[in-house]
Amino acid sequence: MKGLILSGGAGKRLRPITHTSAKQLVPIANKPILFYGIEEMATAGITDIGIVVAPTTGDEIKQAVGDGSKFGVRVTWIPQHAPLGLAHCVLVARDFLADDDFVMYLGDNMLEAGLSDFVERFAAARAESGSGHPTRRPSAQILLAQVSDPGSFGVAEIGSDGQVTQLVEKPEKPPSDLALVGVYLFDRTIHEAVRNIEPSARGELEITDAIDWLITQGYRVDHEVLSGWWIDTGKKDPLLECNRLVLDTFGRSIDGDVDDTSTVEGQVVLEAGAKVVNSTVRGPAIIGSGTTVEHSDIGPYVSIAVDCRISGSEIDNSVVLRRSTVSDIARLTDSLVGRDTVLSRTVRADEPDAGALRGPDDTGPRAIRVMVGDHCRVEIE
Ligand code: G1P
Repeated sequence: MKGLILSGGAGKRLRPITHTSAKQLVPIANKPILFYGIEEMATAGITDIGIVVAPTTGDEIKQAVGDGSKFGVRVTWIPQHAPLGLAHCVLVARDFLADDDFVMYLGDNMLEAGLSDFVERFAAARAESGSGHPTRRPSAQILLAQVSDPGSFGVAEIGSDGQVTQLVEKPEKPPSDLALVGVYLFDRTIHEAVRNIEPSARGELEITDAIDWLITQGYRVDHEVLSGWWIDTGKKDPLLECNRLVLDTFGRSIDGDVDDTSTVEGQVVLEAGAKVVNSTVRGPAIIGSGTTVEHSDIGPYVSIAVDCRISGSEIDNSVVLRRSTVSDIARLTDSLVGRDTVLSRTVRADEPDAGALRGPDDTGPRAIRVMVGDHCRVEIE
């Protein structure tokens, strides 16, 4: 079985970060989202992986992933000249995929359950029905998850016999609350399907429509409903939620320096070369190497990448990308800060204490929530 990871797309919902960087490289707990998908494939025994990339972000992604050897896989790069849809990715990957079965994985999706069980079940169903079993071999297997906003996804309708009867992309009136998760298993029949569909209202060839075509043509499409968490990280709040879920799985490892006036509590990963000075860090949190935290209060649920400088600030539920500075911010919360960015407050001579920036009822520091891109300077009075 081969793997196909879709890592193109414009990342519109994560602008401005995605003006300068690929959404699949935004880190969750200090590791690019895309790497989790590659690792999952490797764990499931899939080592021949095609990655579809866009012209704008392809080079950056290639540089980050390399030839795949650090993950124990072999990567084939597949360019997609324009974001023409997930089914279009299958079209452009035709030569790489040949007639093999494959797992397709959206590079910005993350799920708690690994891929292994899902892949094994498809392989078993195909082997079983291929050896004289009365049922037809499945041509596809999809993964569904219950969501509160099905209109934002591909949605499945399940018939009284428990089979998927229809799939619709971002319907105005969703037939159920079961969304298509961005992990799909296919055999070569999908190539015929993607050639037989028309672009959707948003001008894309939808994989949802291609699978729906399989169903209407009488091919067997198996499904299962996911029980663990699943997140499409393409927007800030789901991305922060994903960061929390991954940080929750971490233990404690303190390889950096913590001075005598600091406290580091709970599940904290402090990488070698990170420094904590006169500060409190409450886990879950991760602080990358080369980063200094001083006179600050960090956590819970904070990921700070490498080579950052945090001083005189409180940060919780946030992700700060590499080489950025946060200084004298009374409280930064629910935020995503890009690379090489400076977020600071002008401390007036008569107001030397960062904590002086208080809410109207004077109960605590006034919080700021931001999503700032790379190479920005934000000064708060
Ligand atoms: C895409 C698919 C949709 C699926 C979702 C999962 O949506 O089109 O069917 O439910 O991924 O993340 P998009 O990210 O293009 O809005």
